[in-house]
Amino acid sequence: MFDKNIYIQRRKLLKNYLKTGIILLPGNSNSPMCCQDNCYPFIQDSIFSYFFGINEPNFVGVIDVDNDKDYIFAKDFTLDDIIWMGPQKLFKDLVEEVGVYNFIDIDNLKNFLTNINKKIHYVNPYRDDIKLLLANILNINPFDIAKFSSLELTKSIIKLRSIKSKEEISEIEKAVNITRKMHLEAMTVAKAGMKEYEVTAAVEAICKKYNAYPSFHTICTINGEILHNHSQNNILKNGDLLLLDCGAKSESGYCGDMTSVFPISGTFTKEQTTFYNILINMFETAEKEIKPYITYKEVHLKVSKILLEELKKLNLVKGEINDLIENGIYGLFMPHGLGHMLGLDVHDMENLGEDLVGYDETCQRSNLMGLKSLRLAKKLEPGFVFTIEPGIYFIPELIKKWKSENKFIEYLNYNEIEKLSGKIGMRYEGNYVITENGSKRLGEPMPRTIDEIETLLK
Ligand code: GLY
Ligand code: MN
Ligand code: MN
Repeated sequence: MFDKNIYIQRRKLLKNYLKTGIILLPGNSNSPMCCQDNCYPFIQDSIFSYFFGINEPNFVGVIDVDNDKDYIFAKDFTLDDIIWMGPQKLFKDLVEEVGVYNFIDIDNLKNFLTNINKKIHYVNPYRDDIKLLLANILNINPFDIAKFSSLELTKSIIKLRSIKSKEEISEIEKAVNITRKMHLEAMTVAKAGMKEYEVTAAVEAICKKYNAYPSFHTICTINGEILHNHSQNNILKNGDLLLLDCGAKSESGYCGDMTSVFPISGTFTKEQTTFYNILINMFETAEKEIKPYITYKEVHLKVSKILLEELKKLNLVKGEINDLIENGIYGLFMPHGLGHMLGLDVHDMENLGEDLVGYDETCQRSNLMGLKSLRLAKKLEPGFVFTIEPGIYFIPELIKKWKSENKFIEYLNYNEIEKLSGKIGMRYEGNYVITENGSKRLGEPMPRTIDEIETLLK
């Protein structure tokens, strides 16, 4: 938790944006795994976390904009709880640590809201239990919850959370450094004969060691061409490249998200070297380009251009590079976007709407292959924290489909491309903040070049 003044200030700024009404910010409840008392690890809702900081289930924050009053509704501990859980700090005292001096039993929430005759702002929840809670306390049909959610509140929260403060950047950097250690651990333990999930076990143990959680399901795969591959049953063999995409969500809730690839044998093959060097060229192009007020779409396109130029040298694509770009040909080899915002969520704020976070009135999402999955496209501003994560993939199913349709036959040398189908799939990912006059990579240095990785593997 930060100092209480940080939360007070955040709520004050939100009040300034909204000007009038009631803001309702429910925290998460526990998610039962198999029964009410056996739950998945508790992860607080990031909006609640941002404005109220408390990492406990079943809290609801209420902000009365007109009267400049903040409330927390929850149910405090009883003796029954203490028998099972040991002595606990009472919530009515805990909330003062985040600058809230109005603690009310949650049983009174519905009445409280019914008696206030003002517009109630809430954001569209991603969890069904929160939908039901809102439906009950606001007397709305659960299926209409999205319809009545507040675009004004949603946009205000995005505006505030998009610019990370120095305290937040420092917390993200801590998460990135745990993430870095997860990657270095994988490079140390992964050996031929192991299963992918055994590497994941070692990687996630590092998270545990720092009292962090994985910020998303770890991707640990020798089939890197499957973008979000969650199966981990393969046995590692010499000649394989292992792709590890993982991150830590630290004690304070902030996230890291990095990807590395490395050879199980300790040495990249000639073919892997060729594509890995292109990948790092793409990554470093992005790294050089990012600065205040460049659009991330522009950076994405510059990186895609490098990819196409290199693939042209390898006789995999043909034609004028500008025509290839216009037709989104790079999307065959990198179907995802160059990156996304990072913060309290690994894809920060995406529950509020991907397009509201990554786009604005000056740029709309394109349907073109290669652009349609770009999550962050708008102008970068000082304080934005986001990922750079170019990839190169030869995805068998996609290649087969395009070839069967003779798609872009004038630009693609399918015979050459097919030779690499299912053989190349790599991504490299790091985390950055935009500063007043440039950018900075977060976290301590990571091995990046072939030499650095091979040296470490030795
Ligand atoms: N976890 C997938 C990503 O890097 O965005
Ligand atoms: Mn990632
Ligand atoms: Mn990412």
